[in-house]
Amino acid sequence: MKNGVTEILELHSNSGRDSLIPILQKIQDHEGFLSESSVIEVGKKLDIPASKIYGVATFYNQFRFEPKGKYHVQVCRGTACHVLGSATVLEKIEKTLKVKAGQTTRDAMFSIEVVACIGACGLAPVIAVNGEFHAKVTEDSLGEIIENYRTKEA
Ligand code: FES
Repeated sequence: MKNGVTEILELHSNSGRDSLIPILQKIQDHEGFLSESSVIEVGKKLDIPASKIYGVATFYNQFRFEPKGKYHVQVCRGTACHVLGSATVLEKIEKTLKVKAGQTTRDAMFSIEVVACIGACGLAPVIAVNGEFHAKVTEDSLGEIIENYRTKEA
């Protein structure tokens, strides 16, 4: 039986190495992350060593190599959010959850992703948790937001 990755690669049957990024984007959209087996399959198809694919993919912080957590935290790093302190927000989230952007907590509860402008600049700095926006985030409010999601699970 074909998997989603095989089907995506079949759609790109005439593609060369220059299609690597669009192919990885499609696989991530489909699977939620880039698994080791996906990377190997892409490497075979495009004749690129898996190590090289990891090298390219890690350069772009849009790619993730672990499944998302139950609560997926997107931290906007667009210009308006940056000006209003999103770097500190990201730092605080990483510290609170003890994982870096692109990673998932060991209990699979939270994952962090850095995103470009999510279209709510008037609410900057903004984070979205499973698509739910949290506006004008501060170090203090952030702790509460994360704690509320943890409490939901308790
Ligand atoms: S820059 Fe963050 S929502 Fe636009």
